[in-house]
Amino acid sequence: MKKWLPYILFASTVLSAAGLLATSADGREDDSMEQLPKVENAAWHSECSSCHMLYHPALLPSRSWKKIMGSLDRHFGENASLEPAQRDEITRFLTSNAADHQLNQRSRRIVQSIPPDEAPVRISSTLYFISRHDEIPNTLYQRKSIGSASNCAACHRSAEQGEFSESTVRIPR
Ligand code: HEC
Ligand code: HEC
Repeated sequence: MKKWLPYILFASTVLSAAGLLATSADGREDDSMEQLPKVENAAWHSECSSCHMLYHPALLPSRSWKKIMGSLDRHFGENASLEPAQRDEITRFLTSNAADHQLNQRSRRIVQSIPPDEAPVRISSTLYFISRHDEIPNTLYQRKSIGSASNCAACHRSAEQGEFSESTVRIPR
């Protein structure tokens, strides 16, 4: 956490200067601009939800999905390899629906929070994610009902559908 602090402070300064953290007059963001589109692909659904929740493609840029799909044999300490045809189909689905191909504000802010020469493989490592969760202590993620910051669906019940609005967040006990 400590080593991130200067980056977080820097990023929030830059982002607010650019008006990227802008909120409406009552301090809330307009949810309709933040909704990720409905997407579906059968191979993605079955192959990418067996070990964890389904991560919506609009949460990472296409260069990140290419990197993830190009190293499935070494996927966060697991072997998540697929047959080439299926891997290529899922890669096409993820990259064509990726954050850098979206018009919604949430995806655009995610992309803007990532330096152009970086391709993070974790949504939870992006400055966007960090800036939105800066009040959550690391120990909270370790609760049995949550497990890790990667388990978005523990707190955002419709995370798989791309729904993350503040009004639907529930932190489990
Ligand atoms: C064999 C199990 C397994 C399969 C299958 C699998 N994953 Fe994962 N994945 C993991 C593990 C383990 C992590 C690390 C989770 C953690 O740190 O809590 C992870 C993490 C991730 C993350 C980072 C989440 C974050 O923001 O912290 C992404 C993105 C991801 N997987 C995408 C995929 C995609 C796309 C597929 C389908 C092609 C897939 N995974 C299939 C085991 C798997
Ligand atoms: C421990 C519970 C928890 C986990 C796990 C979690 N979040 Fe959150 N998330 C929150 C809370 C709390 C907020 C802040 C709500 C507020 O500001 O009132 C939040 C805010 C957000 C926001 C901003 C919502 C808005 O419209 O302002 C996004 C986007 C988001 N989370 C995405 C994710 C993603 C993606 C993951 C997984 C990689 C994740 N979260 C994991 C609890 C969690």
